[in-house]
Amino acid sequence: MAKQPLNIGIVGYGFMGRAHSNAYKQVAQFFDLARTPVLKAACARDAAKVKAFADTWGYESTETDWRRLLDRKDIDCIDICTPNNAHAEIALAAAQAGKMILCEKPLAMNGPEGLKMVQAVEKAKVPNMVWYNYRRVPACTLARQLIDEGRLGKIFHYRANFLQDWTISADLPQGGAGLWRLDVAAAGSGVTGDLLAHCIDTALWLNGGIKDVCAMTETFIKERKHTLTGKVEKVAIDDACAFLCHFKNGSLGLFESTRYARGHKALYTFEINGEKASIKWDLHDLHRLEYFDHKDESRIRGWHKLHVTDGDHPYMGKWWVPGLQIGYESSFVHQVADFIDGLTTGKPAQPDFRNAYETQLVLDAILDSAKGRQWQEVK
Ligand SMILES: NC(=O)c1ccc[n+]([C@@H]2O[C@H](COP(=O)([O-])OP(=O)(O)OC[C@H]3O[C@@H](n4cnc5c(N)ncnc54)[C@H](O)[C@@H]3O)[C@@H](O)[C@H]2O)c1
Repeated sequence: MAKQPLNIGIVGYGFMGRAHSNAYKQVAQFFDLARTPVLKAACARDAAKVKAFADTWGYESTETDWRRLLDRKDIDCIDICTPNNAHAEIALAAAQAGKMILCEKPLAMNGPEGLKMVQAVEKAKVPNMVWYNYRRVPACTLARQLIDEGRLGKIFHYRANFLQDWTISADLPQGGAGLWRLDVAAAGSGVTGDLLAHCIDTALWLNGGIKDVCAMTETFIKERKHTLTGKVEKVAIDDACAFLCHFKNGSLGLFESTRYARGHKALYTFEINGEKASIKWDLHDLHRLEYFDHKDESRIRGWHKLHVTDGDHPYMGKWWVPGLQIGYESSFVHQVADFIDGLTTGKPAQPDFRNAYETQLVLDAILDSAKGRQWQEVK
């Protein structure tokens, strides 16, 4: 029987535009879902570039103004893959137009903007989700299962890093295509909203809420030429951020993120230490979960490297045969599968806007703490 289509209108054809398009194309081949994504329309401001993107990925049509997507009756779902400063405007209008919304992270530029987005989707009762995709790396999902089963016992420590090294050169300009992350007007913040947002989402999901934070940020290169104005302008994003926190469950958190860790490209790692066991994970080796179980006999006790590729590991039964790996891009496939599943079962996939808003509040507290040089409660 033909499946019901889920007609996608995507805004933005950059890194995430590609990652999401790939997910929509793959998901129906691997997951048995009630609805099949259809690449209806791609939208971006440059007509020639968006046409080239649409041809590459198989979108049926193009638009150069996202408002046109909202007027179209043949679009069910708006996928927001634009820089952070465009998320709210598009999402608010899409909710009013009654469209489902998939929005890239961070949800918003700040908490108050995020709250408006939450209220808009809840008022319009439209399905919504934010692309915190690391929850759906099978090894991370397995980490959640082990914690839920009580295998770690009481958690004492949560440690996470997200390290990169691509902005060390003082000659790198800020702003414009590919460099909007250095421009505070487009990004809202630097590594805090870009990289720590991922670490915080995973942490809230694995270890529960955060009570308060104590943060420091640094902007190592104070001025950069702005691509759009041609002038040398102040850099107002944080190049690096480290923070301590108290989780509501009594555990202590330690987080670090920077774009100045020479040698590291996208080193997202986390480690959780519990009374009975510890786990750790590393994005550069994403199909492994390291696990130390104190109840193992002492002669053979040690860190086990679980190769998370067996049929009974999360999501893996849908892919190849046991032992064969999947990649970064598969986490987005899983997210689409879960979103569609949520539409069918009526149990919405997480994180929805309200859930992702919690990360936004922690981000605000971090930036406030760093500015005020003091501990800050999370609202
Ligand atoms: N989930 C993840 O792991 C992950 C990874 C990277 C980026 N992101 C997030 O995805 C978003 C996009 O990041 P990216 O790396 O894909 O950026 P990118 O620079 O590669 O692409 C941005 C796209 O948005 C388009 N765009 C900008 N303003 C627009 C407008 N007003 N109307 C239509 N199109 C517009 C640009 O033309 C471009 O196609 C950001 O919010 C970022 O934080 C998430």
